[in-house]
Amino acid sequence: MGSCFSARIKAESPLHAGANSRYVSSDGRDSSSRLSSASVPQTPRSESEILESSNLRSFGFNDLKTATRNFRPDSVLGEGGFGCVFKGWVDQHSCKAAKPGTGLVIAVKRLNQEGLQGHKEWLTEINYLGQLHHPNLVKLVGYCLEDEQRLLVYEFMPRGSLENHLFRRSSYFQPPSWNLRMKVAYGAAKGLAYLHSPEAKVIYRDFKSSNILLDSNYNAKLSDFGLAKDGPMDGKSHVSTRVMGTYGYAAPEYMVTGHLTAKSDVYSFGVVLLEMLTGRRVIDKNRPPGEHNLIEWAKPYLASKRRIFQVIDARIEGQYSLGGAIKAANLAVKCLATEPKYRPNMDEVVKALEQLQDSDSGSVKHEVVRKHHKTCSNDASNRKAASCPRRSPSPMVA
Ligand SMILES: Nc1ncnc2c1ncn2[C@@H]1O[C@H](COP(=O)(O)OP(=O)(O)OP(=O)(O)O)[C@@H](O)[C@H]1O
Ligand SMILES: [Mg+2]
Repeated sequence: MGSCFSARIKAESPLHAGANSRYVSSDGRDSSSRLSSASVPQTPRSESEILESSNLRSFGFNDLKTATRNFRPDSVLGEGGFGCVFKGWVDQHSCKAAKPGTGLVIAVKRLNQEGLQGHKEWLTEINYLGQLHHPNLVKLVGYCLEDEQRLLVYEFMPRGSLENHLFRRSSYFQPPSWNLRMKVAYGAAKGLAYLHSPEAKVIYRDFKSSNILLDSNYNAKLSDFGLAKDGPMDGKSHVSTRVMGTYGYAAPEYMVTGHLTAKSDVYSFGVVLLEMLTGRRVIDKNRPPGEHNLIEWAKPYLASKRRIFQVIDARIEGQYSLGGAIKAANLAVKCLATEPKYRPNMDEVVKALEQLQDSDSGSVKHEVVRKHHKTCSNDASNRKAASCPRRSPSPMVA
């Protein structure tokens, strides 16, 4: 918890970087710009325009320092490529630091990266989250820009990230139930569908389990818009951009061509859905040979109705119906289609997940599912992985 080193890696192309890394290729232009809805400007905006036009609060560095008790190690909520995230308290009205336990609880993300990329992501986050509002997007309260200091202030999400719930082993993080997984998938899908809607028309580009945060009722909210891009305009089919994102989650065609579409996000959604179904990280070098890449490992099982159950997280055995598991697995397979045109759009994904909410419970499914798990190879390796929590694919940004 206390350590605060960036795991961010720079690389010129995916081919040169290791797995579990966030990556970027190098064609130069990746400017933070505007949204395309009627309610937001249509042209790229300057830094001062972005900061002035948003309804966000501007915080003083010293206030955030006090609010987080000097960025104390035991205030650290997590750490990503951008920097550490701290818990703090501020007064709702004055934005001044408040006594711990009083006022508004916030999560403060402090940029620890030097150079242009960190600043760009900081500004892109403000640009998008300053204008986009939806129950399934995390709320950005404000920012701090003082000398070299760049910070972002969010609403505090008491249940942390989906990544922690799925992969971290401790008494605090129990494996989420089947119904909870379906609820989180549904919420995250609604967030992504909103981003892709004509109202927002944004490609998120960094959909992964660590960017899905959970409120006290386990409602999912997407966070981290530092890599978001406006969707294609003027009838274009894609946005050409340098390749950025996180290994394992990014769509294969985007990795190869740099052509970004909303269907790239759908692929990433499929990856996260598969992580939820299997309880495995998309890239996990601690697995036995042949199982490092979740998608390659799981795909043959998912193609067969009889074998699907062999890859579903053994920790939720007995909690799902056969039909529900097959539907969810099929949805993941469709999202992971190699050809983007065969992937569903996010509205279709939302509809499919709607049907999977609070699916039936009963004794029949217990028995049938147990039978399938007798041959389950996932069982032993899942428990083995349980003893070795790791960070998710780390970011890699130029
Ligand atoms: N608003 C928040 N409320 C509560 N916890 C948060 C909040 N924002 C972030 N966190 C915690 O901090 C962790 C780090 O978040 P951050 O977005 O910096 O990195 P990441 O998503 O894990 O990795 P990456 O930088 O690769 O995207 C999250 O996984 C989460 O546990
Ligand atoms: Mg994040």
